[in-house]
Amino acid sequence: NIHVVIMAGGTGTRFWPYSRNNKPKQFLDVLGTGRSLLQMTYDRFKGEVPNENVWVVSNEIYKELLSEELPEIPESNILLEPSKRNTAPCVAYAAYKIRQKDPNGVMVILPSDHVIFREKAFLEVIEEAVQNANDRSLITIGIEPNRPETGYGYIQFEESEDALKKVKTFTEKPQLDLAKKFIESGEFVWNAGIFVWSVNAIVAAFEEHQPELAEVFAEGADKYFTEAEERFVKRAYSLCKNISIDYAIMEKAEEVFVVLGDIGWSDLGSWNALHEIKEKNGDDNVLEGDIITYDSKDNYILSKTNRLVLTQGLEGFLVADFEDVLLVCKKEDSGIFRTFVNDVKEKK
Ligand code: GDD
Ligand code: MG
Repeated sequence: NIHVVIMAGGTGTRFWPYSRNNKPKQFLDVLGTGRSLLQMTYDRFKGEVPNENVWVVSNEIYKELLSEELPEIPESNILLEPSKRNTAPCVAYAAYKIRQKDPNGVMVILPSDHVIFREKAFLEVIEEAVQNANDRSLITIGIEPNRPETGYGYIQFEESEDALKKVKTFTEKPQLDLAKKFIESGEFVWNAGIFVWSVNAIVAAFEEHQPELAEVFAEGADKYFTEAEERFVKRAYSLCKNISIDYAIMEKAEEVFVVLGDIGWSDLGSWNALHEIKEKNGDDNVLEGDIITYDSKDNYILSKTNRLVLTQGLEGFLVADFEDVLLVCKKEDSGIFRTFVNDVKEKK
């Protein structure tokens, strides 16, 4: 059986002040469609996979938000993490738990912080990957890159006619110099952060490359789906290191494959990325809320208050006006967000 596993435990500092600890990116209706990114991730598989095979892994602080957003999913399919340990423990927990129910299952691992505009093409790519899943292969989805973005994983693969291509190297979040070389060589694609593998393949990969994590989650075999699970998971997470699946497994594993997907993918990693895909007025401004601009271009201006926002002579800026925070910064400099979000964390 196919199991859809949605990872939804990130904090998403880059959209601050829009996303806060109590409402990170995946819970926001970023596109203004009436559905949050998490709900849109679920919607893509509606009718394709039964709800009992849809799983969400997220932090326990989002428990209520999760069941409000996804009432269709059985409560026991919402895996709550007691602490933030990044995506490797998240995947391990899901894999070891699902294995208890369906030892030969195939998992489709999905982040919940991006958009996909070509849904049909996306489902075809997933289908291709699922068809090729076996007891060894770890399959990723590759996206044609267009800039030396340092926040992504880069995949180099062996050219072939097959849809499934053998991965030569997987490099998570390279430095800018290296990312530039990758882009210039034309040999690399971005990792979409979407993975397809059988429960057996990923468990074997954890055993080989992350034996401590494997041991921690294998311990729970007789506890998943029982009353004892919560206590077990609390302890398990206290023993886990904090590491993403990309560093923990993808960079290390041998049997990695990629399916290239022209799926209209955008990870919406920054206000800048959001500005790129949103509807703009004649001056390249994205305006949301009560806003008047004069002689201003290429800005992202968002007002969530009932204040009228006026700008004059402004270019390339982000203005985000919320009830308790007003942020004005260069739109391009979204990389520095982490710094000042940390600085004001105590306050906001
Ligand atoms: N359950 C859970 N627990 N989910 C988490 C956690 C956690 O501790 N941390 C992150 N997530 C979720 C996020 O909400 C997001 O949906 C997804 O896992 C990916 O995590 P990110 O933190 O956003 O990863 P990234 O963007 O830095 O990098 C990944 O995605 C890129 C593409 O967007 C990597 O896979 C890169 O290689 C990839 O290029
Ligand atoms: Mg991300």
